[in-house]
Amino acid sequence: MKVLKDFDLKGKRVLVRCDFNVPLTAEGDILNDFRIKKTVPTIEYLIKKGAKVILMSHLGKPGGKVVENLKLDKVQEKLMEYLDLSVVKARDCVGKEIKDWIERMAPGEVLLLENLRFHKGEKENDPKFARALSELGNIFINEAFATCHRPHASIIGLPKYLPSGAGLLLEKEIKSLTRIIKKPERPLVAVVGGIKFETKIKLLDKLQELCEFELIGGKFTLEILKRKMEKYLSEEVILTKDVYVLEKNENLILRDIRDLKGDEFIPDIGPETIKIFSKRIMTAKTIFWNGPLGFIEKERFRTGTRKIAEKIIESGAYSVVGGGETIRVLSGLNLLHKFDHVCSGGGALVDFIVDEELVGVKALK
Ligand code: 3PG
Repeated sequence: MKVLKDFDLKGKRVLVRCDFNVPLTAEGDILNDFRIKKTVPTIEYLIKKGAKVILMSHLGKPGGKVVENLKLDKVQEKLMEYLDLSVVKARDCVGKEIKDWIERMAPGEVLLLENLRFHKGEKENDPKFARALSELGNIFINEAFATCHRPHASIIGLPKYLPSGAGLLLEKEIKSLTRIIKKPERPLVAVVGGIKFETKIKLLDKLQELCEFELIGGKFTLEILKRKMEKYLSEEVILTKDVYVLEKNENLILRDIRDLKGDEFIPDIGPETIKIFSKRIMTAKTIFWNGPLGFIEKERFRTGTRKIAEKIIESGAYSVVGGGETIRVLSGLNLLHKFDHVCSGGGALVDFIVDEELVGVKALK
């Protein structure tokens, strides 16, 4: 797979697939700009090398038509703030108007195309759409690790038409996650939390193969116990012991998880669990963490997640953390920069660990 430094970029039109799919408020404001910030080094590298930089991304799920509040205007503002230069945004992502504009661009200038998913061809991987995109550039750089599990036109279609390679972020994501999968310094300990159990089962299974110990958050522990899933009732799988239960009258009580019926709302892990998890974390040489350990929407339920984050940092182990919610809470706690690698992917992260490959990465090879 080629990377940025393998290309002669001077004066070239470089099409960069980014993942600017950031969480938004109901008013359309950006809740967390981590993914935008993470692409800045690649954009700055391209500017320095004298390339014409053409950025593209999806945002949300507009379903193949223009959706006003999924336009990339807010992303454009953020880019201008971080790059400290003016970034022009196109009205669409393909077509003559854009081609003409690019023709007139000077080296070092940056153009942002409009949301790729306003066209059905993106999701359907329509070769006509991929070709239309390819006509805008001389080189394709994939910087969208978080979308590399999607077989879409801008991910797997474009490399068929243009010399292609990975951006700095994609390169680092692959290196860091490969280190977890292939050659972690041992013991390797995984911490898995979150809400959607079904979407994480394959990750739990794979991590059970890879790790010495797997620490499981409250909601998932409850599911495992409820379904009597024998394969997770082993010594290497460390389940949550105690949790807080929020009762209907808003009372918060501490309970042993094995005493619960299974339908309770458990907003955080308890002190005994924090103690057991912390002990294991302190023995680790490598730690992989995906999914918060409590209901992080409310600040008062972030204690378990914060304490485990602090322990991971204190352990000095090589740490990789990922998943949208986890990033959001750690960024709010101002702890994100203390991890060795923060993965920008959600679904892509799970698929990369499980399958050890992603369609978008394969397409670059
Ligand atoms: C993500 O947020 O996981 C990626 O941007 C992919 O988005 P999608 O789930 O809408 O395809």
